[in-house]
Amino acid sequence: MDELLAAVSRMMVKHENFKTCAQSGFCNRNRAYADNALSTSKWAAPYSLDPASVRFDKGVLTGTISKKTTTNEIVRLPLTVAFYESGTARVTLDEEKRQKGDIELRHASKAKKQRYNEAEQWAIVGGTTISTGAATSKDAEKGTTKIVYGPASKFEAVIRHVPFGVEFKRDGETQIKLNDRGLLNMEHWRPKVDKPAPEKKEGDDEKKEGEEAMAAGSDKEMAEDESTWWDESFGGNTDSKPRGPESVALDIEFPGYEHVYGVAEHAGPLSLKETRGGDGKYSEPYRLYNSDVFEYEMDSPMTLYGAIPFMQAHKKDSTVGVFWLNAAETWVDITKATTSANPLSFGIGSSVTTQTHWISEAGLLDVFIFLGPKPQDVIGAYTELTGYTQLPQQFAIAYHQCRWNYVTDEDVRDVDRKFDKYKIPYDVIWLDIEYTEGKKYFTWDPMTFPDPLGMNKQLDEHERKLVAIIDPHIKNEGNYPIVEELKSKDLAVHNKDDTIYEGWCWPGSSYWIDCFSPKGREWWKGLFRYDKFKGTMKNVFIWNDMNEPSVFNGPETTMPKDNLHHDHWEHRDLHNINGMTLVNATYDALLARDKVEDKHHVRPFVLTRSFYSGSQRLGAMWTGDNQAAWPHLEASIPMLLSMGVSGFPFAGADVGGFFGNPSKELLTRWYQAGAFYPFFRGHAHIDTRRREPYLAGEPYTEIITQALRLRYALLPAWYTAFHEASVSGAPIIRPNYYVHPGDEKGFGIDDQFYLGSYGLLAKPVTKEGQEGQDIYLADKEKYYDYFDFWTYEGPGTVNVAAPLDTIPFLMQGGHIIPRRDRPRRSSGLMRYDPFTLVVVLGNSGDAEGTLYLDDGESFDFQDGGYLHRRFSYASSTSTLMSEDLAASTGKKTKEYLKQMEKVRVEKVIIVGAPAAWKGKGEVELSEEQGGKSSAARKVALDWHDKEEGKAAWAVVRDPGVQIGSGWKIAFP
Ligand code: GLC
Repeated sequence: MDELLAAVSRMMVKHENFKTCAQSGFCNRNRAYADNALSTSKWAAPYSLDPASVRFDKGVLTGTISKKTTTNEIVRLPLTVAFYESGTARVTLDEEKRQKGDIELRHASKAKKQRYNEAEQWAIVGGTTISTGAATSKDAEKGTTKIVYGPASKFEAVIRHVPFGVEFKRDGETQIKLNDRGLLNMEHWRPKVDKPAPEKKEGDDEKKEGEEAMAAGSDKEMAEDESTWWDESFGGNTDSKPRGPESVALDIEFPGYEHVYGVAEHAGPLSLKETRGGDGKYSEPYRLYNSDVFEYEMDSPMTLYGAIPFMQAHKKDSTVGVFWLNAAETWVDITKATTSANPLSFGIGSSVTTQTHWISEAGLLDVFIFLGPKPQDVIGAYTELTGYTQLPQQFAIAYHQCRWNYVTDEDVRDVDRKFDKYKIPYDVIWLDIEYTEGKKYFTWDPMTFPDPLGMNKQLDEHERKLVAIIDPHIKNEGNYPIVEELKSKDLAVHNKDDTIYEGWCWPGSSYWIDCFSPKGREWWKGLFRYDKFKGTMKNVFIWNDMNEPSVFNGPETTMPKDNLHHDHWEHRDLHNINGMTLVNATYDALLARDKVEDKHHVRPFVLTRSFYSGSQRLGAMWTGDNQAAWPHLEASIPMLLSMGVSGFPFAGADVGGFFGNPSKELLTRWYQAGAFYPFFRGHAHIDTRRREPYLAGEPYTEIITQALRLRYALLPAWYTAFHEASVSGAPIIRPNYYVHPGDEKGFGIDDQFYLGSYGLLAKPVTKEGQEGQDIYLADKEKYYDYFDFWTYEGPGTVNVAAPLDTIPFLMQGGHIIPRRDRPRRSSGLMRYDPFTLVVVLGNSGDAEGTLYLDDGESFDFQDGGYLHRRFSYASSTSTLMSEDLAASTGKKTKEYLKQMEKVRVEKVIIVGAPAAWKGKGEVELSEEQGGKSSAARKVALDWHDKEEGKAAWAVVRDPGVQIGSGWKIAFP
């Protein structure tokens, strides 16, 4: 390891800058609440549903829950349980007094009195049609109300009145339990009563902080520990908490489920760990509080830049899930309990139950329940609610070259030329913050970027794009029209006293655009017009960074929680959504800069660092500031898999590592892994050495170029996978449990993955010096090496040779993979290139695959400007067919199909070809035209015998058919 690398691995997150659960008042209180509830057998959960209040009307149940306080007061909490047509159920709890605004705020605060109820306005875009079939059931047990709902009425919600709790069943079997352990806690509003300081008794001095309340409560009612109710200080900042304590918490149990996935974003394994201590377990809950965590660490439940409070539980052949719609700081504790069916069965028949405890600082209790049973059913239902990944432009899924910073426009032009000189494909070059004049966004430094348009035009010659960074902090400096407008129009985030909030970020003193404000968004939209942001043109797109928001001098590097946003919501209420609102505004701005009828009205591209449920609709994310160190390469894979099963699959990590200088071996391996990141971008910190692929030298440059070419050749498969994600929410790179939900051995596997629905299985090397790779094959199927057709047979673990120039990459039998094999400078130049179809024959002898194609840039696909083919090979008839999967009909269909007429299939490769074809030399091909088959013509078939360990293969060379039309090839 060279010295710099050693330095990198010594870099460590500053733990003291971020709260632990014990330092976060509401988290600490709720953990203590749980400990108390779970340690006394007499625990009586104080929430009950008044049966007389229950109404069920048109798919929605309403009622009132009474909370009995420690001082025997009753707090009324309106309950709604809604049942949607999709089979999703939603439980929402509010606080009556606050709904009515019938409370007083301390410190003369101007904050809103209600509990934050607008998270859904940002996160939810569909799937909330109320079920017409949901009905109350007569056979409810005493003390419960039962609703039957969902597909074929297979789902049930059994609502227990006292104490309040809900059990969700599928086919009569309990899948999810709410408040079964009695940890539901909705801290209600109360006035602050100043009490005299308690008299000291003997022995008090030995007690640690917080112990008094516990001790006092051990016999009688537990007196509450008020120490963190009113003001809370951390790192020199005091949160004034004008509404006092207001957290919401609930236990959610998955009986019989051993694995849970989700609650992105964390740097840790895909299958989430337990969080209450013990060997190899975490002792902190998973935290969701979007933060700029400098030098984040591996294998940790610490918060990162984005939050998706969606969790799936998985066991053999069953997946269920929950979505906790809350935008405030949230912590999730996870524990697992083994229950034995029979004490004498020695573990046989025992099962593991996962128990979770969700704790948010403020807002409603609002939880969605998904009952599966397949992983895709759960992800599909979640993304129906929060939206599907936008179908990106094709360039966006090709390779992006970034660094902090390309320093002049001439530098950009030079890098562009060098990629061409070395024949390395790339689509996008990026500009980090230094292109601006003094970190003033929407300006160019006149000394270093005198001619941005000339630069952009050069890029456009090869259909390349520029992405420029625009952050949400606006420099507080005279003679900067943007800041002047921001202030005069009053569009920035406010302090708790409702004056403009000032903080510190890259430019120094700054203000923050408030994208929760409709006026703020409207203004933001105008800033990206070509005549406003001069120097930009149609091939320029945007990177939104630091949108957690990152505030260098703020508490936990973000804004004070008592800051005020539009409509006087506190920052506390909506913190985790903040990043998404900026991207939303930027996306709209990019849409607005072109006229709809303009043929260049193209799909926006925005990269974000901070995100929330729903951000997938707007662009791509990346995992922030990683390090040029092997563990960070390794961690990138479970992190991106986690994003994929969390409905946000357009995800990547900085290739090469952001901080530090990678060794050439690490850089090379990182490109090989990056070629499988849905979002594929090289990026580096300003203090690192240049590392464009052509600088690595041989053999590294050549190996990296091959990895890039592999990505480009497979772009048709990637694009089809993105299309699938854009209509179903399916992950683009898929973990074993998703593809093989019945294979228990694979539930914890997170270092290998499948690409789309193509049976392409990759396991990039992520360890130094490693030359072979064990790959786990879940099913009884043939797998072939992608490059040389070496044949493996599942199930089991196989070892694949992986010298530096090789990516462990297999093809599962039974699929047909579309490729474009001609090397080009950029993906745009591949538009009319011919296709290769790789038919991979497995044990059944049949195969199929799909191809989705459109112009890769405009919205014409919404008017039918696309083609969607299904290719299938049937062993019974030895026939390969191309048919329309979804016949496009729309005003752009004809025009698009016409354009594509010149695009051919230039090669069909059959891997694992039957021996009977040997020496036959020909296939018969017929084309479909206007519903009729043309006369068959003969085309040559090349045969390749199997060599030791490898499969036989055959090639139909130049069949002369169009990619977009129907045809049939009859093999011998
Ligand atoms: C943040 C980003 C990083 C970027 C830097 C400068 O650290 O995460 O990617 O290069 O800011 O803008």
